[in-house]
Amino acid sequence: MGDHLVINWQAGMAAASSSTHHHLVLNNSVKIARLGLGTFRSKGEEVKSAVLHALRSGYSQIDTASVYRNEVEIGQALKESGVARENIFLTSKVSPYEQGYDNAIEAVGQILERLGTEYLDLCLIHWPGAAKLELRSEKNKELRHETWRALERLYLEKKCRAIGVSNFTQQHLECLLSVCAVRPSVNQVEMHPYLIQKPLREYCQRNEILVQAYSPLGVGNLLADPVVCDIASLRKRTPAQILLRWGVQHNVVVLPKSVKKERIQENAAIFDFVLSDEEMDRLDGLDQSHHFCWSPNEDVDQCRPLNIHTGITLMRVV
Ligand SMILES: NC(=O)c1ccc[n+]([C@@H]2O[C@H](COP(=O)([O-])OP(=O)(O)OC[C@H]3O[C@@H](n4cnc5c(N)ncnc54)[C@H](OP(=O)(O)O)[C@@H]3O)[C@@H](O)[C@H]2O)c1
Repeated sequence: MGDHLVINWQAGMAAASSSTHHHLVLNNSVKIARLGLGTFRSKGEEVKSAVLHALRSGYSQIDTASVYRNEVEIGQALKESGVARENIFLTSKVSPYEQGYDNAIEAVGQILERLGTEYLDLCLIHWPGAAKLELRSEKNKELRHETWRALERLYLEKKCRAIGVSNFTQQHLECLLSVCAVRPSVNQVEMHPYLIQKPLREYCQRNEILVQAYSPLGVGNLLADPVVCDIASLRKRTPAQILLRWGVQHNVVVLPKSVKKERIQENAAIFDFVLSDEEMDRLDGLDQSHHFCWSPNEDVDQCRPLNIHTGITLMRVV
């Protein structure tokens, strides 16, 4: 079996369908909470207090990345929280500036140092392309596969309990699966009712790759959607809770970001109700393949840089 991790994937997925079960199981048997705290654009004292508050409110999973430039403060919060390291699930990501075998090994060493930890629970390749390369350059593929080999080594050395990717399309995953020794456990992608990612989710499920939904609130843009608000008012829940519950019921991990204490708590209160099939269908029906963040998909020519927070540009990676 070697490093080809065979797992109780089906059992994990079945367990996840229970509304009270708060964990999923990765393809290497590592447990992962269905909710984590996002930290993109949270920095300094703000991110430190958000992480502390999240850990004290029952979150165990924190999502960061070397490009977020907040790992030092997150590391301080982890220590100050007093929560045992084994009860925290920490994710970080190798940036497009850190791709390549040696660079990635060095980058993860620096990530661990900044976070003040011996290991990551999950380490992802942040983006399928490398910085400063033409988007269509074949070198992107070569570099991301070298980066993957570095993550495989770090996995074997137990510096990462699980390894995965982010913003990979089916095409990127197919390529990686054809050459990898350790299969990716996770693909972290933008997902919310305006971008339901059905074909990619189905592909990932067939290949035992767990999907993590980033920007699950559409970077805040979906909180005023009339369908979301209607379901929220019928259910006496908040729009954020409806959006997050929708993700949970699609068996993905949701990663909402907030720096506000009351919202951090609100976003975690999603395991005591279940959306009906009809409500799920109404939310699925909002799909318009709309990215508020960036899209690595060559076919998404119409991807619009609409979000005022991110000022995103369309990127296509070969
Ligand atoms: N892998 C990748 O390429 C990638 C890309 C983007 C994001 N991510 C990850 O995914 C996480 C989440 O995505 P995101 O930060 O883009 O967007 P998001 O979680 O969809 O939305 C965050 C926005 O919603 C607000 N918010 C949060 N909870 C709320 C609530 N209950 N009521 C009202 N407003 C609320 C936040 O403001 P306040 O903070 O002021 O509450 C913030 O403006 C990131 O932080 C990051 O960890 C990964």
